[in-house]
Amino acid sequence: MTPNAALAATDVFAYADRQINKAAARLWPGAEVRLGQHTPSVTTYVRRLQVDGRPLFAKVSLLGLSLVSVLRGTAGDWATVRAAQAAYRGSPGTLLEREAKALAILGEEAGVLTCPVAGIRDGVLFTEPVAGPTLVDLLAKEPHRTGELMTRVLVELAGLQRPAVARVVDEVAIVERGIGSTFHRKFNGISGPTYLRKAGEKGEVLATVVGRLRRLRLTPAAGRRPVVYGDLKPDHAVFPDGPRGRPVFLDPGLARGRPQTDAAKLVSRTVLNLIASPPDRATADAVVSGAGTFADAMTADLGPDERATWIKHLVVLWLMDTTNILSTYLTSPPDLPLPEHADKITRQAKTVVSLLDRTTAHLIAGTDPRAVWRLALTDAAKAADR
Ligand SMILES: Nc1ncnc2c1ncn2[C@@H]1O[C@H](COP(=O)(O)OP(=O)(O)O)[C@@H](O)[C@H]1O
Ligand SMILES: [Mg+2]
Repeated sequence: MTPNAALAATDVFAYADRQINKAAARLWPGAEVRLGQHTPSVTTYVRRLQVDGRPLFAKVSLLGLSLVSVLRGTAGDWATVRAAQAAYRGSPGTLLEREAKALAILGEEAGVLTCPVAGIRDGVLFTEPVAGPTLVDLLAKEPHRTGELMTRVLVELAGLQRPAVARVVDEVAIVERGIGSTFHRKFNGISGPTYLRKAGEKGEVLATVVGRLRRLRLTPAAGRRPVVYGDLKPDHAVFPDGPRGRPVFLDPGLARGRPQTDAAKLVSRTVLNLIASPPDRATADAVVSGAGTFADAMTADLGPDERATWIKHLVVLWLMDTTNILSTYLTSPPDLPLPEHADKITRQAKTVVSLLDRTTAHLIAGTDPRAVWRLALTDAAKAADR
């Protein structure tokens, strides 16, 4: 027995492997299936495989929850989770089914390039690999192009605002992965403090940060609720033809959301990558100044007041996302393999937490959001400089 009703990652992974094998056998009867490398993720179980020599990625989601939550025992012990999963995977509207449909909508209605779906069966989603450098790789190599590349990624997603997408998005929306919904789920009411206590000494400062972000609660977005990509990490934009070609997108979390959602995720994860793998100071400066250029481009047609509000929402969502992912990493079960950058972030948690602390303090003090944004970016470049 593992303590605190926690589940053993090895049990869960062995189960997921069996599910992948079974689903592949049903989709491609008689084919030779060879499982390949596991891609560590805190969200789902992702593994490469070959089906008659054809390379694919397989993805398994347990109950639509994050792997971290399931392993922590949130959904019950292993027997309970297995039984629930058997019912879940056949039910309509599972997370991966919505993801597969969202990938189709992106391609057919929004004109966005995505990883092709090879099949979905019994709770397993198979996609064809998209090879090439990601936005993370490109920013590391060509930091002076940060503003241009981030802007191009968002421009590529402009088709999300077509009426044909708005008409169907609610059926496939992945609302559970939104920045705000994740933040409120994690840090809500009584479970919040308990959860943060698990984050050790950083948990205390994080609790202050969470309190401030809750007080900064964004007024409900009046009127427009644009369609957002939803999980626009820079590792989800792949450039198979290099920086001048069109990006291909992975792992969407299509939903309606605040207009700043996608920009905030890009900024949040880019800054975390800077802190996790610090480049030289000139590179860090180029990346954060590019993020500034990017925000200027996103707000080019807004008046001064609208722009201040837009930037404030961008910063709040950025900090919420960073708080979400940092606390996930800090409380992740020890036997769950983390992506490489996650271990690095965890080691730099103090730096990240003080960036969150300073920036939320400025926001609470009522400093002009545009000044807070500039300060936060400068802080991020300094934080990367060690
Ligand atoms: N079709 C694909 N092509 C290229 N890389 C992929 C593909 N599917 C998954 N990956 C890799 O695996 C990682 C995790 O898969 P992802 O779909 O993002 O799962 P999660 O929902 O757990 O984040 C991705 O960030 C990417 O590096
Ligand atoms: Mg992902």
